[in-house]
Amino acid sequence: MWAELLPIGRSSATGGYRRYAWTGADADCRAWFRAQAESRGLAYELDRNGNQWAWLGDPEAGNAVVTGSHLDSVPDGGAFDGPLGVVSSFAALDELRARGAQPDRPLAITNFGDEEGARFGLACVGSRLAAGQLTPERAHELRDADGVSLPQAMEHAGYDPAGIGPDPERLARIGAFVELHVEQGRALALPSDGAPDGSPVGVASAIWPHGRWRFDFRGEANHAGTTRIEDRRDPMLTYAETVLAARAAAVRTGALATFGKVAVEPNGVNAIASLVRGWLDSRAPDEGTLDAVVGEIERAATGRGARDGVAVDVTRESFTPVVEFEHGLRDKLAALLGRDGTPVPVLPTGAGHDAGILSASVPTAMLFVRNPTGVSHSPAETAAEDDCLAGVSALADVLEGLACR
Ligand code: GLV
Ligand code: MN
Ligand code: MN
Repeated sequence: MWAELLPIGRSSATGGYRRYAWTGADADCRAWFRAQAESRGLAYELDRNGNQWAWLGDPEAGNAVVTGSHLDSVPDGGAFDGPLGVVSSFAALDELRARGAQPDRPLAITNFGDEEGARFGLACVGSRLAAGQLTPERAHELRDADGVSLPQAMEHAGYDPAGIGPDPERLARIGAFVELHVEQGRALALPSDGAPDGSPVGVASAIWPHGRWRFDFRGEANHAGTTRIEDRRDPMLTYAETVLAARAAAVRTGALATFGKVAVEPNGVNAIASLVRGWLDSRAPDEGTLDAVVGEIERAATGRGARDGVAVDVTRESFTPVVEFEHGLRDKLAALLGRDGTPVPVLPTGAGHDAGILSASVPTAMLFVRNPTGVSHSPAETAAEDDCLAGVSALADVLEGLACR
């Protein structure tokens, strides 16, 4: 499975993946998913929101055990964020069959569309639409950097966007959703009590609240060689000060605040910018801290903007509240995986996931696979083959424990 996925959407310049929603690379990933489903005799479905499903057993029967993740990537993403969960799901199903397990609940594998939000700026579009956390009206307004709207992109990919929107009937069929994911940190790699080499697999406890804010800094374009310093209204200065303020606020409060994307107009070497647009990604252990951090960054931006003659507008583009994974399912996973007496680590994450979105509608849980460097959202993301195989068997144990009596 990895060998087939490896070349899809990979930049030969960086080695990173550029699998953006509704592009050719996305279509190739989707074709791969469908072929995997069909080669195993699973019933393949594409839902109204562009999420793919592969069913073992009757999809209508209800109380299904669903696993899966996503195949799209951030700009120059790694190979594992998303695909590890989907590949492991198919491999775990193969292992269940090899064990002769007889599920008495339907099982399904999913590939949720546009999890990273790399193209349209909003993460988890497929699961948010299904769960009613993104309205079709707002989805119709999403545009990529070239001004192509989400429905236009879907249509261009040969998919009818007319039916996008809440899908409560589909979610009502799910009794449990379990997403396996590469860890995006080093918690599992670090030694802990009774596990001097760390642990290959862990169970998620919670997802930090997080969101994306667009900061528009508007000044005045002018000549870099002739405009006196005191006559300038340079938004780059306001932006720079805001980036530093974000770092300081995050350090002080134990939160995270990142400006990782910036657009400049007119973007000329010898012109003072007229507009700098920067996107803040911020996350914190709790919503009070997150609000405080973002408020502090906004105040720093407007305060500096007043000095620079620069207008500052802040738009919240997305927000995901704290997710505390359902304790019953989380504890069941921990018990299933700790059967040999070695307790499985239970850990929170700052990364967003479709499992977090779905957690408002169905019981969800997550498994993490050790990441030796902790690097993610980068071509350098990695996981050891043995750990990936441990993840597959853990997922098979979980599916068997949930679906087979
Ligand atoms: C998704 O990976 C996110 O946390 O941004
Ligand atoms: Mn990601
Ligand atoms: Mn992911």
